[in-house]
Amino acid sequence: MPRVLSGIQPSGQLTLGNYIGAIQNFVKLQETHECYFMVVDLHAITVPQDPAALREQTEAVAALFIASGIDPAKASIFVQSHVTAHAELGWLLTTLAYMGELERMTQFKDKSSGKDSVGAGLFVYPALMAADILLYNADLVPVGDDQKQHLELTRDIAQRFNSRFGDYFTVPEPYIPKVGARIMSLDDGTKKMSKSNPNPASYIALLDPPDVIRKKISRATTDSGRDVIFNPAEKPEVSNLMSIYAHCAGLTLDEVSARYEGQGYGAFKKDLAEHVVATLEPLQTKYHEIRSSGEIHAILKQGAEQVSEVANKTLLEVKERMGFLLPR
Ligand code: TYM
Repeated sequence: MPRVLSGIQPSGQLTLGNYIGAIQNFVKLQETHECYFMVVDLHAITVPQDPAALREQTEAVAALFIASGIDPAKASIFVQSHVTAHAELGWLLTTLAYMGELERMTQFKDKSSGKDSVGAGLFVYPALMAADILLYNADLVPVGDDQKQHLELTRDIAQRFNSRFGDYFTVPEPYIPKVGARIMSLDDGTKKMSKSNPNPASYIALLDPPDVIRKKISRATTDSGRDVIFNPAEKPEVSNLMSIYAHCAGLTLDEVSARYEGQGYGAFKKDLAEHVVATLEPLQTKYHEIRSSGEIHAILKQGAEQVSEVANKTLLEVKERMGFLLPR
């Protein structure tokens, strides 16, 4: 069965962007693929994190995976730091990544711009991400558009390793949704919706209460005019809301457009809020059930045990090929 791997950082509240760009595909792919989904805490610490908040968010993201429909009986759900092979292969692959290619990463440029001091971890981050994927020889990596460049680097590192040390790693393919691969911020149609944006009105968090969701959507910036038409170049803000609508209501963009012909933005935004609420309410109920049951710890323990066998086997093989003297 082809393998799928993906991860999400526990660096803040998960947003509708994470859900539409990534999690919805995790849920879909678990039916047809061998799936590995992890909470990437080692990635989160590449920018400063409050220790108590990091612990809480790590558990919250794992619970949101399950609340969104990822079934621990079908997919392995685990925390990156529970499987030590990630950090170790991350180091080995750091030695295969070039400074020039890491410098070109737009995520690094965005996160480091304007900062006086930038942690070295932020710079080598993509090598750790490559390790996450290559440890399991994943075939497919479901991600949003912003991770495409990291995926390309992962492919380059895999090919570089294979040509130096013999064919071993699977060169993975990205799996990116056709609509919703880049959900934009509610207050600015040119910026990505992000959990690290300091303005909470710019994103819909998966755990936002219904009234907060309604308020955020009613205040979302819209382009001039009144036609509900999908045209990201000329109407980025309305097009973004249409993508969210299409996902939450299970419609195509044309169907959304047809539904609001001649009606203006008001009715469209009001209905959009109700579709988002209807999508998130069951997820929120399940999330609170999971958190209060305390079952998440056992699920994560089992997940780490399941995947460690594959991860450790890969690590050993890689070390052998790179010329390490293995303990006998
Ligand atoms: P992260 O935690 O920033 O985001 C998690 C996933 O959500 C997607 N995403 C979005 N999709 C659409 N619209 C948006 N506004 C939006 N914001 C986020 C991201 O593309 C991502 O798929 N480096 C990764 C985490 C990672 C990883 C991995 C992913 C670490 N190791 C291995 C795949 C495989 C990241 O920072 O994602």
